[in-house]
Amino acid sequence: MVKCRVCGAETRSFLSFGKMPLANNFLDKNMVAEIDEGRTIEACYPLELFFCQRCGMVQIGKVLPPEKLFINYIYLASNSETMKKHIKALVKRIKDKRLSGKDGFVVEIGSNTGDLLKLFKANGTRVLGIEPAKNIAAMSNKNDIETMAVFFNKETAHAVKERYGNANAVIGRHVFAHIKDLDSVIKGAKDLIGKDGVFIVEVPYLVDFIERNEFDTVYHEHLSYFSVGTLKFLFNKYDMEIVDVERVLDIHGGSIIVYIKNKASNAKASERVSELIKLEKENGLDDFKTYADFADRVLKFKEELLSVLKGLKSQGKRICGYGAPAKSTTLLNYCGIGTDVLDFVVDNTPTKQGLYLPGSHLEVCSDECVLKEQPDYFLLLAWNFADEIIGKEDKYIKKGGRFIVPIPNVRIVQS
Ligand code: TYD
Ligand code: ZN
Repeated sequence: MVKCRVCGAETRSFLSFGKMPLANNFLDKNMVAEIDEGRTIEACYPLELFFCQRCGMVQIGKVLPPEKLFINYIYLASNSETMKKHIKALVKRIKDKRLSGKDGFVVEIGSNTGDLLKLFKANGTRVLGIEPAKNIAAMSNKNDIETMAVFFNKETAHAVKERYGNANAVIGRHVFAHIKDLDSVIKGAKDLIGKDGVFIVEVPYLVDFIERNEFDTVYHEHLSYFSVGTLKFLFNKYDMEIVDVERVLDIHGGSIIVYIKNKASNAKASERVSELIKLEKENGLDDFKTYADFADRVLKFKEELLSVLKGLKSQGKRICGYGAPAKSTTLLNYCGIGTDVLDFVVDNTPTKQGLYLPGSHLEVCSDECVLKEQPDYFLLLAWNFADEIIGKEDKYIKKGGRFIVPIPNVRIVQS
């Protein structure tokens, strides 16, 4: 039995992916050879989604220790134009709402290379990054963004407060879904922002996840899949209130930015909060059937994608993958797509190039290979950047290349 991590009630399973490798556990050539020769096995862990009828929380069952997932992290954020634009606009909105304070102090949880904090710092705001991946925290410090290589929790938050005072804003972009011990993180954030500060949390939105069939965003790092309703339930336990929420449709397949304050601040909640909770009810997010239907669509998706790919292979077409995001591990391994179907994948992240994808063992090549190799089709694994990627690969398309965009539904783009 899997107990809900938010409210403790018994949850119900609605989709199992079987055993999956860790999505960011890219392999080098030697590791692939060792696995192929049977000298070692690639660690795989069950991946299954559960729904809690009481608080509406969607979550994975087996939670791995964070040390396994986040210490030497390969993920480098915000190298895309879409993300840069989003971060810039977000920082502007936070400043316009006067949430970062005059000469204020902003702390970011999971600050990665410090790109967001840099924008605050440029305006004279004091900043501090918290980034548990040691290699990435070091890059951020080198970038002149003071960063602590620790996990954010009650204790580390308190240490920050003792040393630097209260923060006007604590920001966590796409980290909340990764956190097992939400209790400690929320208590820490509450302590650090004090009575008047704000906790700003950006997470993928459950409405978009269900509506757009985004099953591949499920992997071991993503423990929780949030609605505004569940977040309200959760923060209420800590006498905190969601005072505002914004939807951003083009980030990670559709996300929400939630602004949370201490109830003692007496801040008034915007109507947008109740509007989204209403939308969630209308979309059936409180009904198990919605999730069972989603699981049916995922099964059908697999059949359809495989039939399209097999059809193309039987015509002798050459197909590669575009992007090596974490979600490609779920999509490829769940659908059983490997080196027999795709030749390789391209990705513009230098730390991923030359490595091999978990499970499928597809080689990650530089995006220069797009035009050099000019395969007939690219399966767009980084579908969340479809507009940006298809837009910039116009030469590939002009020369007759095509994209297969898998999510929300399999479609072929040729112009
Ligand atoms: P992303 O969606 O950020 O991450 P995840 O699913 O891991 O949370 O991953 C997008 C990947 O696509 C990332 O590895 C970089 C790659 N990419 C390109 O190769 N070219 C591009 O133009 C863009 C925008 C992304
Ligand atoms: Zn619950």
